[in-house]
Amino acid sequence: MTRDRNILGWLLSFSKLFRNWLIIAFLSMILVASFEIAIPYKIKEIVDGLISNEIDKEIIVSISTHVLLLISGILIFSAIFSYILNITGQKIMHEIRQSTFDHIVSLPQSFFDKQDVGRITTRITNDVNALNEFYTNVLVQFLKEILVLVGILIVMFSFNSFLAMMIVVVNIFIIIFALLYKKRLRRVYAKLRLTIAQLNSFINESIRGMSLLKIYNKENMNYSRFQEYSNQNYQANMEQMYTFAIFRPLIEFMYVFSVAIVIWIGGGLVVNNSLTIGALLAIVFYIRMVFRPILELADKYNILQSALAASENLFAIIQTPSEKNGTRKFDGNFKKIDFKDVSFSYDEDNWVLKDFNLEIKKGQSIVLLGPTGSGKTTIVNLILGFYVPQKGNIYIDDYPLASYDLKSIRENFSVIMQDTPLFNNVPEEGSYHDVEEIRSRGEKQIDNIKKIISRPFHIIILDEATSNLDLDLERDVKQYLDSIKNKTSILIAHRLNLIKDYNEIIVLENGQIVEKGVHKKLINKKGEYYDIFNLNKKFYEI
Ligand SMILES: Nc1ncnc2c1ncn2[C@@H]1O[C@H](COP(=O)(O)OP(=O)(O)OP(=O)(O)O)[C@@H](O)[C@H]1O
Ligand SMILES: [Mg+2]
Repeated sequence: MTRDRNILGWLLSFSKLFRNWLIIAFLSMILVASFEIAIPYKIKEIVDGLISNEIDKEIIVSISTHVLLLISGILIFSAIFSYILNITGQKIMHEIRQSTFDHIVSLPQSFFDKQDVGRITTRITNDVNALNEFYTNVLVQFLKEILVLVGILIVMFSFNSFLAMMIVVVNIFIIIFALLYKKRLRRVYAKLRLTIAQLNSFINESIRGMSLLKIYNKENMNYSRFQEYSNQNYQANMEQMYTFAIFRPLIEFMYVFSVAIVIWIGGGLVVNNSLTIGALLAIVFYIRMVFRPILELADKYNILQSALAASENLFAIIQTPSEKNGTRKFDGNFKKIDFKDVSFSYDEDNWVLKDFNLEIKKGQSIVLLGPTGSGKTTIVNLILGFYVPQKGNIYIDDYPLASYDLKSIRENFSVIMQDTPLFNNVPEEGSYHDVEEIRSRGEKQIDNIKKIISRPFHIIILDEATSNLDLDLERDVKQYLDSIKNKTSILIAHRLNLIKDYNEIIVLENGQIVEKGVHKKLINKKGEYYDIFNLNKKFYEI
């Protein structure tokens, strides 16, 4: 409950930005509602006047003019309020989208590990749009219908309280029915959404893995799985249609039934002179107005449900705490970076680093070596503050990493991460499809390296930065690295021709250091490094 209230508070906080506009919209809405209620009342005046012969031509003309003015008023003020609502709706969406995106950018890396890119995209695009529908189509309409309902009840009670009571009782039954029906609708919609999500992610997977699919000749299997998902979606759609098909006629029936009751009981009252014919006629009009929102309920309910789901999704993102950030500024001048008894796990279950100790002095060039999964990239992730160790700490000159402003740390590093794509190009104006330039992995790596070394830095980290380059290009990179020897560098490479003359080679296994030292010393030791080096020698003639 408090959670719902928080979500509502969050949504309303955006409306506050446009308070004045929304007040104007709301006032216009009140006018529209009262004009709508006034029209049947005017008709009642004419009818009763005609019947009692207490009306002349002039009065008829004047009442008709009123009706005309009321109708014009409805048109004008409806236009004003829907104009304002649509515009503020768009503005609110813009704000929500902006603040959600800002927040997403501030989130820690662990958030992105658990979230699919497609899902985050959906949050920022579809979910925000669903909220827009909710603001413009549901929330305000709903307020208006409630106003109309209250107004109608007041007028009907003024006509005849007994008949008005009857109508209230019938309405209570209808509301109970609608609430029961809501349960069924919720189930049907949940199923529909699930099948659409399944279908989408299946299409997504198939298209991404198209080449694999073809290599393994799995097109047919894929086709039948698609058919299965598609079929489930079809079933869910059918179920939704049947549900609607029952709902509308039932409500229509209740409407006719209510009219019949009103005419039956109201007719009696007319005979008794406790109700005028005009009032009876007006009540029949009013009943139509009461039923209109109920009939639309099923359509609106869908919007309401997806808006609720969307706001929950968005709110969950907003509530995820941002990356923790300290205040100490790092200017790149340091004596050492120190891992002290660091233990770290991505999933709180499997330790990737265990009581890990490492000291990186300024100006040192160190190499991290070790089998796949031994924790090399993890060490880099921790230095850059993407993750926080569960035990122990990383210090820069005796201050824990957490006390530093992360931005100032990252600014002083030049990093090429393993598997980091270049940013995709954004479609240009005038073109309707992505114009991403197709480049080989090696070409992308070269671009990355160029970009990374073109900015000032104090520490360079290359994680498998040359794995996709040919030997010539790799030699160029090595020459560059040799030329910046005074900077601190951390190099992760599987091929050893780059690293022979580095002054600290660290061999990792299962998140622990198994060997450490210069090339010569480690070769003489005839341990892990010696084995890796010999293997490399066989393949690369170094
Ligand atoms: N984001 C993550 N979430 C969960 N587990 C992870 C994540 N990143 C890495 N791991 C796990 O942590 C362990 C160490 O991974 P790490 O990327 O540090 O290895 P690595 O030494 O860089 O290997 P490689 O040579 O393949 O790059 C592996 O078992 C890996 O599965
Ligand atoms: Mg790695």
